[in-house]
Amino acid sequence: MLRELIMNTIYRKIWDLAKPYYEKGRPMDIAHIEWMMKDAMLVCRKEKIDDSLLLPLVILHDVGYSAVPKGNPFNLDLRKAHMEAGARIAGQTLETVGYPREKVIQIVKYVSVHDNWAFGENNIYTGDRVLGTFNDLDFAWMATKEGFPALMKILNKGPAEMINYLETDSKLKDRPFSTKTAKGLFEKYVKERKTEYGLAKTR
Ligand SMILES: [Fe+2]
Ligand SMILES: [Fe+2]
Repeated sequence: MLRELIMNTIYRKIWDLAKPYYEKGRPMDIAHIEWMMKDAMLVCRKEKIDDSLLLPLVILHDVGYSAVPKGNPFNLDLRKAHMEAGARIAGQTLETVGYPREKVIQIVKYVSVHDNWAFGENNIYTGDRVLGTFNDLDFAWMATKEGFPALMKILNKGPAEMINYLETDSKLKDRPFSTKTAKGLFEKYVKERKTEYGLAKTR
């Protein structure tokens, strides 16, 4: 149902325009965004978050990877460059679909700082439920069925190490989950991965 809701709205148009950029970007990003749209809509509904800001942010946040050299996304120069390029593409895309001007300004701003945690900035997330929820989901992706193996590869970790990485990441302390719903989703995914990779405790 959430999927239909997303696909019958303006978000569908934004996604259609964003997709070609992702096709030129990182291999996992289409799956990443399609998953994230669905979970973002769910959190918006349960937690009364403004989906007119969160959904375009989710859809457009990493379009900038299409315009920067290929490389490890944990590289800081690349991080900065993909946010700058992404903000530009996001603005153009939202103008193309006739998105409300004041929302375009806000979403472009969000895209331009969405990974600033990598530069030690945490209060932009804890002080803003839209950006906070975005970060919650971007993090939770690493525990999903498709995100988990993709990140194991990027980080060169085995399943047990990857679980440990997720459960001890500074995100949990520095940028605690903005909502119970997002926290619950993350915990559910971690549990599923433990079962999938035979790491669940047996009693
Ligand atoms: Fe990003
Ligand atoms: Fe992302």
